Amino acid sequence: MTHILRTVEEVRKFHSPGCLGLVPTMGALHTGHRELIERARAENDSVIVSIFVNPLQFSDLGDCADYRDYPRDLAADLEALQDLDVDAVFAPEPSEMYPNAVPEVWVRAGEMGSRLEGASRPGHFDGVTTVVAKLFQLIQPDRAYFGEKDAQQLAIIRRMVADLNIPVEITGVPIIRGTDGLAESSRNQHLSAQQRQQALILPRTLSALAQGEISDVDHARAAISAAEGVELDHLEVVDPATLLPVPDVHRLDQLDSGALVVAAIRVGNTRLIDNITIGQL
Ligand code: PAJ
Repeated sequence: MTHILRTVEEVRKFHSPGCLGLVPTMGALHTGHRELIERARAENDSVIVSIFVNPLQFSDLGDCADYRDYPRDLAADLEALQDLDVDAVFAPEPSEMYPNAVPEVWVRAGEMGSRLEGASRPGHFDGVTTVVAKLFQLIQPDRAYFGEKDAQQLAIIRRMVADLNIPVEITGVPIIRGTDGLAESSRNQHLSAQQRQQALILPRTLSALAQGEISDVDHARAAISAAEGVELDHLEVVDPATLLPVPDVHRLDQLDSGALVVAAIRVGNTRLIDNITIGQL
């Protein structure tokens, strides 16, 4: 039976036996989230899924259309969780999580949060680290599960846990893709059929890089920029732990060790991200 916890008091009182796994989400659950939950289920005695659309990680602390229009359907999410044997869902209101509305004291993501996605979304990762630190503090899981799709988020959470000595083991879960190759995302529902088709240039180019069909990074950038209906935000070769650009890399066949290629595009009003590992990490 899944317990539905709506308040801080309820989540603090909830006791589960053995090793506890946490899967933090913002709801609108899809097969990417399911993969995280299944992994948590397989590796722990108890599993909690949190569902909270966190205003702090949106622009203007949630005073924006992106936050207001974010899909929220708790009944549908609970339905989607039915066969996953989750012990509890923590689904608080913003006023529960942020009793003083905007917090005075934050967990800051620092330099790691200002590059790549952070350059396009200033403050975003400070919102993520603050809410995830609060969830860890409230739920005190032994393990927590994050998708490799959000590679920068995963790297920053790992760094936060190390820097703040939080006693939780972080597991990264590989990207789940649709049959056409597009990484699953709650944002995909904003794409028309034609836009989804156009967006496929992103996974296809990343896959061509990983397979060695393209080695020149500028070629990959040009291929995406030339695609109809698609705007390239960034495509960078980075160290997966620090997210720092691997210096002077123009051709991937010159890399001495593994690296991550991270990229973001815009299709219409929808921003999509993806990444792929090159070589052995
Ligand atoms: P959300 O976008 O709901 O994603 C929740 C988790 O699912 C994240 O760890 C994300 O990386 C993972 N995920 C999403 N799509 C995936 C895919 N296609 N394959 C594998 N994993 C995928 O990320 C957030 O929420 C928030 O920032 C959160 C961590 C909950 C903090 O508010």
